[in-house]
Amino acid sequence: MTAKLIDGKHIAQVIRDKWKLRVDELIKKGIRPGLGVIIVGSDPASLVYVGNKTKACESVGISSKQYDLPVTITEEELLAKIDELNNDPAINGILVQLPLPKHIDVNNVLAKISVEKDVDGFHLYNMGALVTGKMIFPPCTPYGIKCLLDYTNIDVEGKNAVVIGSSNIVGKPMALMLLSMNATVSICNIYTYYLTQYTSLADILIVATGVPGLIKKEMVKPGAVVIDVGINRLPDGRLVGDVDYEGVKEVASYITPVPGGVGPMTITMLLVNTIMAAERSNKLAKPYIDFDMA
Ligand code: GUN
Repeated sequence: MTAKLIDGKHIAQVIRDKWKLRVDELIKKGIRPGLGVIIVGSDPASLVYVGNKTKACESVGISSKQYDLPVTITEEELLAKIDELNNDPAINGILVQLPLPKHIDVNNVLAKISVEKDVDGFHLYNMGALVTGKMIFPPCTPYGIKCLLDYTNIDVEGKNAVVIGSSNIVGKPMALMLLSMNATVSICNIYTYYLTQYTSLADILIVATGVPGLIKKEMVKPGAVVIDVGINRLPDGRLVGDVDYEGVKEVASYITPVPGGVGPMTITMLLVNTIMAAERSNKLAKPYIDFDMA
């Protein structure tokens, strides 16, 4: 079997084109969605990510404003900046790029962002909403993966879904979303003994560990759907995922490439959440995200 490729770049573009029409409608009503992006320090990777996010905003008509704050900023000063954006009616969504310097408590920062502007979906309220299945702003990467599955007509109900990686940003919210889609879910991580015992039973395998090539062909159930969230830069400059793509594509039914799989979806869902935030703040959207909407 040779797996079919799930083309995240293409699906992301389809979703962006669709949501751009909603921005056009908002603009006709005199509303331009606005995203405030805060970056602390000058980590080169974070600067690239933030640059890609602000560029993507422009492509659909969202106005984005980037706040470059010095690495020496105190937690108090950062919280004050967030408060300023919380109170700015031109800003519908706030994103604080992670990771933050060690002297700042990330939990305090995420808790400070207004729930109604938490387009990253990292606030405790939005995390808790995942447990009840009532999404407000779903975290962008798992939300993007859900859309990849939907657009590819992959039904997860009743299937064995295995998520490898238990971060707050990807693994935990992904597992909760799959559970709300009626999958049977296992969560593993890089500490799991006998990982193959889990992966070999997975109908849907989602890998987000940051370990290049962790998942080999022998670990994958024939016909599985494999979603690779990893983005790893090798010493020779190549960008690879957590899945041995060449090997695994011989046994999987579907697979996402790196790059061009999950990555473009993450940014797209940030745009979707920001547009949704603008609609919500103008009473043009339902109080909870309808998960099938993107
Ligand atoms: N750092 C890595 N991924 C993310 C993300 O999705 N959002 C934010 N804010 N920071 C990140």
